[in-house]
Amino acid sequence: MSASPHKTTEDRDQDQGQGQSQSQSLGLGQKPSAMPDPSGPDTAIDDTEDLADDVVTAQKNISDSRRQSKLPTGINDILPVPFAPNIRPITISDLESCIALENAAFPNPDHRCSREKFEYRLTVCPELCMGVFCTVVPSSASAKNFEIDTLRTAKPVETGRNDGAVSVLLAHIISTRSNADVVTDEAMDYPRDYKTNRRNTSSVGHQEIGRTICIHSLAVEPKLQGCGLGKLIMKAYLQQVKNSVLADRVALICQDYLVNYYKRFGFEHVGPSKATFGGGGWNDMAFKLPSTTSKKKKI
Ligand SMILES: CC(C)(COP(=O)(O)OP(=O)(O)OC[C@H]1O[C@@H](n2cnc3c(N)ncnc32)[C@H](O)[C@@H]1OP(=O)(O)O)[C@@H](O)C(=O)NCCC(=O)NCCS
Repeated sequence: MSASPHKTTEDRDQDQGQGQSQSQSLGLGQKPSAMPDPSGPDTAIDDTEDLADDVVTAQKNISDSRRQSKLPTGINDILPVPFAPNIRPITISDLESCIALENAAFPNPDHRCSREKFEYRLTVCPELCMGVFCTVVPSSASAKNFEIDTLRTAKPVETGRNDGAVSVLLAHIISTRSNADVVTDEAMDYPRDYKTNRRNTSSVGHQEIGRTICIHSLAVEPKLQGCGLGKLIMKAYLQQVKNSVLADRVALICQDYLVNYYKRFGFEHVGPSKATFGGGGWNDMAFKLPSTTSKKKKI
């Protein structure tokens, strides 16, 4: 991704007005489960705010970069329908949409997750993957000249629905588990024989009892970047992991210009990464989960 001049100050949009109604359409991000754990770690995530507020932020967001670049300012200026996100786990049936989104979001092909890796990860650990979807009626999309790659790969929301509405992927997070504390080349790889070898004894790829959730891809549809979708899905993901997944930490690697972006969610900058994926030059980032903090373990 080319570095864009995003602002680095804290949230501006605190409008509570529409949050209630929009939270109804959230899946994993519904208000009760989305409420941050008050006993959780002291992170940069604002625990007074819930995901409904982030939906409102996405609906109203006018980031400095969008304002300066004179791009459409908010997600509702871009989408052909009011933004009513459905946040849910991604499954293998979403494979083509994930590939389309990844290819659109990462301009550098070396930084993209390959089709084979998507297929592997969505087969062995879909429960660790999450997407933000939005229902779109194709005819209204074309009437409003709304064109994104994941519209073409979207699946019908219901079989036989008269208006042909489809569920369009707007953002995704794709992860596996690892035994290492940070994201390694081994964690990013996958066993070539996973379809035939049911006793997975490989040291590469997903490790079922690993205590580190490794995020391999966070991607937002380029036309919707800077509208708050990245923030929405990352906060929903961290809350889901906190609430339901046994792990000590969430780890990822990122380029220099995104270190501060992840710090705002509570990730710590561990240091330069040894990962050579895509030519290297990455930073290790780690987010400690509450159990880690309460047991006073160290990363
Ligand atoms: C990086 C990415 C996920 C961010 O998602 P996004 O939806 O564009 O970002 P958001 O709109 O949620 O940004 C949330 C906030 O972070 C800020 N921000 C964005 N990029 C930032 C950066 N590089 N450094 C610091 N803050 C940043 C925004 O200004 C915004 O601030 P605000 O809440 O005060 O308005 C998205 O741009 C993307 O998919 N990029 C291409 C793929 C990629 O690089 N993925 C990450 C791989 S490690």
